[in-house]
Amino acid sequence: MSLEVRKLCKTFVNEHSGEKTAVLDAIDLAVENGGFVSIIGPTGCGKTTLLRIIAGLEVASSGDIFINGAKPAEPWKQVGFVFQEYALFPWRRVWENIAFGLEMKGVSTAERRDRAFDFIKRFGLEGSHDLYPRELSGGMKQRVALARTMITDPDIILMDEPFGALDSQTRSQMRQFLFDVWRQSKKTILFITHSIDEAIFLSQKVIGFSSRPATCSLELTIDLPYPRDVTTDTFNIYRRRIITFLDDQKA
Ligand SMILES: Nc1ncnc2c1ncn2[C@@H]1O[C@H](COP(=O)(O)OP(=O)(O)O)[C@@H](O)[C@H]1O
Ligand SMILES: [Mg+2]
Repeated sequence: MSLEVRKLCKTFVNEHSGEKTAVLDAIDLAVENGGFVSIIGPTGCGKTTLLRIIAGLEVASSGDIFINGAKPAEPWKQVGFVFQEYALFPWRRVWENIAFGLEMKGVSTAERRDRAFDFIKRFGLEGSHDLYPRELSGGMKQRVALARTMITDPDIILMDEPFGALDSQTRSQMRQFLFDVWRQSKKTILFITHSIDEAIFLSQKVIGFSSRPATCSLELTIDLPYPRDVTTDTFNIYRRRIITFLDDQKA
């Protein structure tokens, strides 16, 4: 399904002092059905706030969100969220974490187990079904977090710096893994990252946010065939464009 954000604004008002913080300023963006769009921008500019509003966890001050052309009454039913921190339940085993969303939907234990084990196999987590999150590496935790989101089959997946806590080698593996998941599942993905390479490697379009209040200050279509090679000259041209953009935001 497609996602469209139109003229979205958000200002936080402090309940006690009345002080206002403008965070999002007329954000316009669109992700086509099955598309992959990344947002990159300085810390604190409002990226997480935007995802929270799209998911219905936060209310916009003005502006609209459309899913497949309609304003969703209950966006959380169509939208899956992969958080910056893994947000796994420490007291649940891997398969129980993955199956959580099905439990909320009242799916039977036997079916939950079957479907969770299917993800465990597809996501390269074989043998870890009975482990607890503390027993997993960072890369495994993030696979569990993605499986837990995917199992409820959301139309749109929002990802908030999912690989931020990983070492660089694991991070490169996860970027490839996410690419494969996206290509197979054909999900619509809106992805926030601080990694320029991750954004170019994965996205059809990279949106650059300005410092707070965030505006869409860069819209860069990545015109490279998949799978992409980070060592090529053309990849480097895009890399340079984004580095220059981010440097300008600091000035
Ligand atoms: N619930 C809230 N109340 C007040 N201010 C908030 C709230 N949530 C976020 N903010 C502020 O909004 C700004 C943007 O935050 P955030 O969306 O988390 O930025 P980013 O994800 O780009 O780093 C920050 O200045 C943050 O302090
Ligand atoms: Mg954030």
